[in-house]
Amino acid sequence: MNSISSSLLKNISSRTASRPIVASTSALSANVSRVGAVRASLMHQRGYTSSATPKKGSSGRLAFLTLATLGGIGGYYYTSAQAIKTKTIPVTTTKKDIDYERIYKEIAEMLDENPDYDDGSYGPVLVRLAWHASGTYDKETKTGGSNGATMRFEPESAHAANNGLAIARDLLEKIHQKYPEISYGDLWTLAGVCAIQELGGPTIPWRPGRQDAFEAKSCTPDGRLPDATKKEDHIRDIFYRMGFNDQEIVALTGAHALGRCHPERSGFDGPWQEAPTIFSNEYFKAISGRKWIKKTLPHGGWQWVDENNTDVMMLPAEISMYNDKEFKKYFDLYAKDEQKFFEDFTAAFVKLLELGVPFKGDEKVYRFKATTA
Ligand code: HEM
Repeated sequence: MNSISSSLLKNISSRTASRPIVASTSALSANVSRVGAVRASLMHQRGYTSSATPKKGSSGRLAFLTLATLGGIGGYYYTSAQAIKTKTIPVTTTKKDIDYERIYKEIAEMLDENPDYDDGSYGPVLVRLAWHASGTYDKETKTGGSNGATMRFEPESAHAANNGLAIARDLLEKIHQKYPEISYGDLWTLAGVCAIQELGGPTIPWRPGRQDAFEAKSCTPDGRLPDATKKEDHIRDIFYRMGFNDQEIVALTGAHALGRCHPERSGFDGPWQEAPTIFSNEYFKAISGRKWIKKTLPHGGWQWVDENNTDVMMLPAEISMYNDKEFKKYFDLYAKDEQKFFEDFTAAFVKLLELGVPFKGDEKVYRFKATTA
């Protein structure tokens, strides 16, 4: 058991001794131990009900239709993955006197500030922002990645893959106004680290060093992030381009323990398991332990849903990955061994957030203490 998880559990167990664990109809109800206890506490804190339906979300149908009409969503429907060469333009320099510990705490305090948002935490959307800012990296041209924070500009902010991420950028803008010295790339990646740790995940070492770009022409081309409607060979193409191997790809995908799909953002609908505000290996247990059936979506696409709890879903790309022999062995490994998942996720996530960042080499590496620990 990871040390953060274990102290979180200790802390939480004493506060929730007589509180029943809210369980769903699925296999999850059989799950005891750390996740159950952590979940019981965090659900309570966030007023989570075990329903996979977000408190606000159905209002998105109209917005979805509008966006779809404007021409861009329904899964990650990307245009061609053209390889336009872009360069980030470093303008700011890393300052040594920025209080990153303070900024971490401010982000942590913000995560639960709106109990009506989704499942009660902004954490998942902040993790997605950190990943989409970083996952544009191309190791051949050495373009993209979290350096530059080019998603501040159009066209990158308007790429279909980034639908919904304005919510995360706007939240962090409030913090940037208080601490304008931090670069956006550092702030966004720090927020991803903070969200994972605060939601019960492992300690993720993080260091500053990203420099803001100030021109839209630094944006990366559309098509660099994965298309959830495609198969495992596409997922390999996308992540190999960043420099990841099969094991790292599966470990990273375990971040889908957090959050949910939103019809008005991606066209898909629902969380990957019943506790979407707890970082755990439940995603792997779900994909490997349940029976998945196809469900047609209102806009004509489809997704997989759990036969016993059709609110829970998997993306077409994920089941294709699970059916691939090389990928499958890691899904099964992480379903059995959460500690191994935490270790491998930490290494791969640090690598992701640092792709293409021009570190000087003398940056301090921070290991923030979770405020929930
Ligand atoms: C296998 C490749 C991947 C595909 C095809 C994929 C696809 C998606 C899709 C379609 C959504 C739903 C967006 C929405 O409707 O709001 C989503 C959400 C999310 N993704 Fe991924 N993703 C992938 C990899 C990753 C990785 C590597 C991470 C992080 C390390 C990640 C973290 C997240 C998180 C936390 C959410 C939930 C966001 C929220 O609740 O607002 N994903 N992903």
